[in-house]
Amino acid sequence: MHVIAIDGPAGSGKSTVARRLAERLGLDYLDTGAMYRAVAFAALRRGLDPEDLEAVARMARQLEIVVDADGVRVDDVDATIEIRGPEVTRAVSAVAANPGVRTELVHRQREWVRGRAGAVVEGRDIGTVVFPDAAFKAYLTARLDVRAGRRHREVTDMAYEAVAADMARRDTIDSGRVDGPLACSDDAVQIDTSDRDADAIVEELLQALGEATT
Ligand code: DC
Repeated sequence: MHVIAIDGPAGSGKSTVARRLAERLGLDYLDTGAMYRAVAFAALRRGLDPEDLEAVARMARQLEIVVDADGVRVDDVDATIEIRGPEVTRAVSAVAANPGVRTELVHRQREWVRGRAGAVVEGRDIGTVVFPDAAFKAYLTARLDVRAGRRHREVTDMAYEAVAADMARRDTIDSGRVDGPLACSDDAVQIDTSDRDADAIVEELLQALGEATT
């Protein structure tokens, strides 16, 4: 089992970089953020309060979540588009701070990797909690204004100021939670993506990977 862990905050460019890196290496790719979003999506659909720890954790344990190249299916409902929408984005921080949900999803992420020769796994706690023994770890960051600008281009129906404020709020919740907070592992390669494009970062990671594994 050969895991490449890519962590970092929202808008750091880690999804684009992780996906391209997996392509270049011919490895499968797992977006763990999509799994937390899938749980938030299901909670909203069932009318659960996203802050209700017990009810949301119980639901998460029974939920069928499929994240693959075709998109995201939750209990056989296609949620690919909706998990990126503003309602799920608003609810997901509370869901991701729920220890019962984290235990369940971390378990599923380890299961997903088992049985694969190797994978690129992207999230917030992959190098620190889920796969502390990963073969290679990268932590991507960028300035808040750059990250908010990137997200704003994706969600064009929100004002830049609102996107930046929401992002700062999520950063605080993600970094401050007790269980699996957003954190940089001591042995991760740290890259500031603020003024660089994704392909240059993929090249840098491929080179660092080559050096780390030879
Ligand atoms: O990367 P993203 O924006 O799709 O992540 C959605 C939410 O899930 C975000 O609040 C951070 C959280 N998350 C997490 O807590 N742990 C992970 N491994 C991945 C995402």
